[in-house]
Amino acid sequence: MKSLVIGANGQLGHALVRSLSTLGTVVAATRDGERVGGGRCEAVDLADGAAIGSLIERVRPDVVVNAAAHTAVDKAEQEPDVAFRINAQAPAAMARACARQGIALVHYSTDYVFNGGAHRPYTEADPTDPLGVYGESKRAGERALAESGARYLVLRTAWVYGLHGHNFLRTMLRLGAERDELRVVDDQVGTPTPAWLIADTTAAILEKGIQADGIRHLTARGQCSWCDFAVAIMDEATASGILPRKPRVVPIRTSEYPTPARRPAYSVMDVGRLEQEYGLELPDWRDALSRTLAPQAAP
Ligand SMILES: NC(=O)c1ccc[n+]([C@@H]2O[C@H](COP(=O)([O-])OP(=O)(O)OC[C@H]3O[C@@H](n4cnc5c(N)ncnc54)[C@H](OP(=O)(O)O)[C@@H]3O)[C@@H](O)[C@H]2O)c1
Repeated sequence: MKSLVIGANGQLGHALVRSLSTLGTVVAATRDGERVGGGRCEAVDLADGAAIGSLIERVRPDVVVNAAAHTAVDKAEQEPDVAFRINAQAPAAMARACARQGIALVHYSTDYVFNGGAHRPYTEADPTDPLGVYGESKRAGERALAESGARYLVLRTAWVYGLHGHNFLRTMLRLGAERDELRVVDDQVGTPTPAWLIADTTAAILEKGIQADGIRHLTARGQCSWCDFAVAIMDEATASGILPRKPRVVPIRTSEYPTPARRPAYSVMDVGRLEQEYGLELPDWRDALSRTLAPQAAP
């Protein structure tokens, strides 16, 4: 199988290049044609819809996997045009090119399509109601794929982290090494999900074959607050010797840490449908964290 991974320098894209190589050839594409860590690859700027179409026509993969996105949630509030161009119009252009050539498209979306008012995990059938521009633009991307006529799968994920890229885990490890005390929000609940888990699961799905077009939820299992996650990171990191000592983690409320974009207070997603369709057993978030920080760490 030949896969084209767009956004190969992002935290998920980086993990996908590794996981999908077990299925065959992977062609990586980044904004400037440079891979983080060295090496050249295909270049594509997602602001250029025509360039997206010609890249897909030239590479002619069996599947396009789009890990690129405008993920700066707060910045999106100030630049909605850019967020919509990258998160909605670019996937729409990919989907049109894929539909023309009979290529499957895997794309990722977010728990931020929900308003966070639920009291049980969100299913794929629950109505969306994004609180901000980022969620709005990602929902527009989901809709563009559904209307494109392409064979597609949207995997909605959440709280993505890993040893590569910008994410909560790396921020906590950096601050944990610098400070005696960290103040972390305790009233937003979700499911931390490592990039390697999303990438490995994507590979397992593609190996089996996409069972049906549509949206599916893909996170680790279970739930916690950002504060719980920070405490777990500090526990694991000190136990495995990554941090010499454990800083104190102090719970605070979202109102004590104001941000330009509102975040859903509760964004746990039900992953049962994906597990059932593809015969998967997703790990609990805590086990996934241990694997990520284990000495022979997952990618
Ligand atoms: N991060 C999360 O917590 C989270 C949660 C839920 C869902 N998701 C979704 O999961 C997917 C992967 O996210 P991630 O965390 O891996 O994101 P990420 O680390 O921020 O990576 C996004 C990548 O997109 C690329 N990109 C942005 N604008 C581009 C443009 N105009 N042209 C070409 N490339 C461009 C970036 O390139 P540069 O490196 O050149 O900037 C970056 O490599 C996204 O669909 C995201 O919406 C993420």
